[in-house]
Amino acid sequence: MIKGCIFDLDGVICDTAQFHFIAWKELANGLGIPFDEAFNEKLKGVSRVDSLELILENGNLTLDTSRKEELLNLKNQRYLELVEGMSQSDILPGMAEFIFVLAAGGILKGVGSSSKNAKRILDKLRITKAFEVIVDGNMIKNSKPHPEVFLKCADLLGLEPSECVVIEDAQAGVEAAKRAGMIAIGVGTKENLPNADTWVTDFRHRTLDDILKEI
Ligand code: BG6
Ligand code: MG
Repeated sequence: MIKGCIFDLDGVICDTAQFHFIAWKELANGLGIPFDEAFNEKLKGVSRVDSLELILENGNLTLDTSRKEELLNLKNQRYLELVEGMSQSDILPGMAEFIFVLAAGGILKGVGSSSKNAKRILDKLRITKAFEVIVDGNMIKNSKPHPEVFLKCADLLGLEPSECVVIEDAQAGVEAAKRAGMIAIGVGTKENLPNADTWVTDFRHRTLDDILKEI
C-alpha cells in the first residue's frame, strides 16, 4: 500500500532542468568541450561535483582542484542568475493540483533532490510547506543513482521504501528509486527512461491512483 510520494525537484515540480542545461552548456563550451541534449541526459539528477567530472571526462580534460572549485562556483552563480525571476507561476502545469489531491487523500509528500539549491527554489515557488520532508543535496553523501536521497526521505517520513513512490525525470533518479526498492514514475517517455515502472508527460488532470493503475 502506497503511503508516501517522493518528488524529484528539477524537471518534475518546475522546469529548472533547462537552467542547469544552459549553465553547464555555457561552461563546457567555454572549455572547448561539446555539450548537447543527449549528453545532458547523463547529468540530470547527478550532483554538481559529479556533473563537472563527467563533463571534463567527456572532454578529456584534467584540471586541478582549485580550478574545478572555481568552475563549480561559476556554474552555480550562472544557475542562480537564471532562476532569479522564478515564482509560483513556474510550478509545472497540473503539479500543484496533483499535490493538493495527494494531501487530501492523506498521502505523505517528500522532496528528494540532489540539488543544494532545492530549498531556495521551493521557497521561490512558494510550495515548501506542501511537503512534510525535504531532502536536498546538502543532506546526502552519495548523489543519484545512489538510493541515499530517497531512503533518507522515506525514513524521515516514517515509511518503508515499499510504501513510497518516486516521481523522477532523470535516468539516474529512476535508477536511485529502483535501488531504494520504490516504484518509479518517469516524467518522460519509455525511450528516455526505460527503467521506470510507468511514464507521465503531463500532470494535468492526473492523480496518483490513476497513474498507479497503469503499472
Ligand atoms: C539535480 C539536477 O536536481 O541537482 C542536476 O537534476 C544538478 O542537473 C543537481 O546538477 C545539483 O544541483 P545544484 O543546484 O546543487 O548545483
Ligand atoms: Mg530532475
